[in-house]
Amino acid sequence: MNYANPIRVLHSLLALCLLSQIAIGQLMDVPGEHHVEAEVSALSIANEAMADEDHQSNAHAEEESWMFEVHEFLGISIAALIMMRLALAFTNIPGAHWRNLFPWFSKEGRNRLQDEIKSQASGWKQGKLAAPENGESVARSAHGLMLLIVLAMAATGVTLFFGWNEHGQQTEIIHMVGEAHEFIVIFLEAFIVLHILAVVLHMRGGHSIINRIRPFAK
Ligand code: HEM
Repeated sequence: MNYANPIRVLHSLLALCLLSQIAIGQLMDVPGEHHVEAEVSALSIANEAMADEDHQSNAHAEEESWMFEVHEFLGISIAALIMMRLALAFTNIPGAHWRNLFPWFSKEGRNRLQDEIKSQASGWKQGKLAAPENGESVARSAHGLMLLIVLAMAATGVTLFFGWNEHGQQTEIIHMVGEAHEFIVIFLEAFIVLHILAVVLHMRGGHSIINRIRPFAK
């Protein structure tokens, strides 16, 4: 498939922001989360000195919350990028259309997907991927699912951006959205690992896959 340049540029920006976001997400302290945990532990132990210590470590956590601000900035950028990518899915620029991302939406697409799985699954078990010209419905479906997962991450993230209380307890709904946000990231990470593994396997198979998505490459 021939990807138009806007798709290639968006892919690079999305990959950069998402990979940085995942790294930051592992390292950051979340203001408000600490606060609640500190309150709970202080109450359960009923020890004022301990609560005082928690308070100090809280202040320390808030000092470190610049990482959380980077997380918010990257999150809003990712939300904007995914909206742009999905908007392009309703245009006719090469490689952008939503039918490319969701081949299983039509009967014909589902048939192609089935045929491809039947003919290529034995190769996958040996770590061999067929060249893109021999069918790419599986790859496209995986790309579509990745974008949907990013959309779910962005939707929950933007809700948290407006609803998260950095200095106190969270409402029940915001707490649930926070849990969902953390749960969805597991799927996103798994898909990204598989996506990068697929790229490596394609390259080992001699398919010049990177040139298909590198911005401004021929
Ligand atoms: C080091 C990181 C990455 C590399 C090397 C990489 C590589 C590639 C390559 C080579 C393609 C072209 C596949 C084809 O020929 O059909 C592609 C497409 C794609 N990649 Fe990545 N990718 C990376 C990270 C990501 C991340 C983090 C996402 C997260 C959403 C992502 C989502 C996609 C999507 C959705 C497509 C299809 C293009 C589109 O429709 O927008 N990639 N990637």
